[in-house]
Amino acid sequence: MEETAENGHPVKYYRLSEIEERNTFKCTWIIIHHNIYDVTKFLEEHPGGEEVLREQGGGDATESFEDVGHSSDAREMAASMVIGELHPDDRPKIAKPPDSIVTTVKETQSWWSNWVLPGLVAAIVTVLYHMYMEKEQ
Ligand code: HEM
Repeated sequence: MEETAENGHPVKYYRLSEIEERNTFKCTWIIIHHNIYDVTKFLEEHPGGEEVLREQGGGDATESFEDVGHSSDAREMAASMVIGELHPDDRPKIAKPPDSIVTTVKETQSWWSNWVLPGLVAAIVTVLYHMYMEKEQ
């Protein structure tokens, strides 16, 4: 049995290279959440403008699409333009590195700079102050 997308279109897997090739002056395909959208006929109707869609053509527009905070109406419209899905083997190619790795590194750094370094500086200042006071007496 063949799987079908919400708009009744059979689910077809496309490779990233095919999607990039399809992005010509005549044709605009974009990727949102691993779905492939043919927005060619929608370009002129898009309330956010033709240019933003063309810029994302042939690539992953998930982040820009979500950043705009599109309404549920916009999401329904998008569902009618699905023509397939990104091939599972190509999904890691567009994946962004997870934020958690960056956070962990940052946390380690701030733990050092927030507590250990000021502590060391305070200790050195105290020792120097005592040495200075002893000399004065
Ligand atoms: C199939 C994909 C898309 C559909 C169906 C779609 C549809 C819409 C709709 C209906 C609106 C009007 C506001 C709303 O209802 O949320 C809108 C606004 C907007 N869209 Fe999209 N959009 C798509 C993809 C994108 C992408 C990939 C971008 C960014 C690169 C984008 C950028 C914008 C911007 C900036 C607005 C705001 C316009 C404003 O508030 O003045 N859209 N879109």
